[in-house]
Amino acid sequence: LPVKVYGERRYLEYQATWWPESAVQAVIAIQRRFRPRPSDVLLASYPKSGTTWMKALVFAIMSRKVYPLRDHPLLRLNPHDCVVHLSGAYATGKEAVVEALPSPRIMAVHMPFSTLPASVVVDSSSGCKIVYVWRDPKDVLVSLWHYYRKLRPEEAHVSEFHDLYESFCQGDTVFGPWWDNVLGYFRASVEMPTRVLFLRYEDMLEDTASAVVAIANFVGCPFSAEEERAGVVDAIVKLCSFEELKNLDTNMSGSNGHLIKLPSSSYFRKGVAGDWVGHMTREMADRIDSIIQGKFQGSGLEIKRAS
Ligand code: A3P
Repeated sequence: LPVKVYGERRYLEYQATWWPESAVQAVIAIQRRFRPRPSDVLLASYPKSGTTWMKALVFAIMSRKVYPLRDHPLLRLNPHDCVVHLSGAYATGKEAVVEALPSPRIMAVHMPFSTLPASVVVDSSSGCKIVYVWRDPKDVLVSLWHYYRKLRPEEAHVSEFHDLYESFCQGDTVFGPWWDNVLGYFRASVEMPTRVLFLRYEDMLEDTASAVVAIANFVGCPFSAEEERAGVVDAIVKLCSFEELKNLDTNMSGSNGHLIKLPSSSYFRKGVAGDWVGHMTREMADRIDSIIQGKFQGSGLEIKRAS
């Protein structure tokens, strides 16, 4: 497989996607052996696009009948300890853990849609649902840069924002090109709206309650009128808010498929839209926007250009 080396890290190209070296075998195993159940919900995203938040929201929505919100696991446990990461689980030999999860299972992936197992994308009888979240790529890039700095502070090159920026513009960052990751799920959501829900991080920030209602309807757990009157939607919004979750440290024992234990600040940094302003010049922002606009052309998906 083609290899790219960035400092200590090696990326491999497999099925037109760049993967961390540790993920490729896991992805192949998932493609061969993962069997979706009709009740499964896959949370898909490009890294740093709101995965942690989505894990919390979907877990809270789907488990609200099991765990009362006033005594919910998310009051004590980081979302990463509540929802399994599929390729991490396969990479760490925890395939059996995934198999043993009771239904309905919630699992997260960063795999592009085109690389999901045929059992998920082709076999419509599996009925497995996918919730995808995407985010302004400029903020994804900034968030990724901060994440890498925490992950591998010893690697000088990743402290150079400009290097990561260039890789991103070339489509060379992990699980990417970013635009292919986003477009694959967008197209799937247009073709199969009952199977793929496509949400934008910035819209969720603006109106989280509407996103919660949309997710609940999509995954087949709509709120009853009684629940709405009792303020359950708002309670879920609060339970999963940045402020409430940010201090929950991660256990990340490995059972949920995490390869490394990272501090909570790796997943909760600022949680806002537009932080790119403090990290790149106007020209750099315009260049990303034009690249993405070109890639999105004709797809029906639009990126809001920086004003
Ligand atoms: P920033 O680095 O811009 O702050 P992921 O979960 O996919 O790794 O994405 C991490 C990003 O989502 C980080 O962005 C993080 O702060 C933000 N985030 C995490 N939890 C959030 C929440 N409850 N609400 C809004 N943003 C959140």
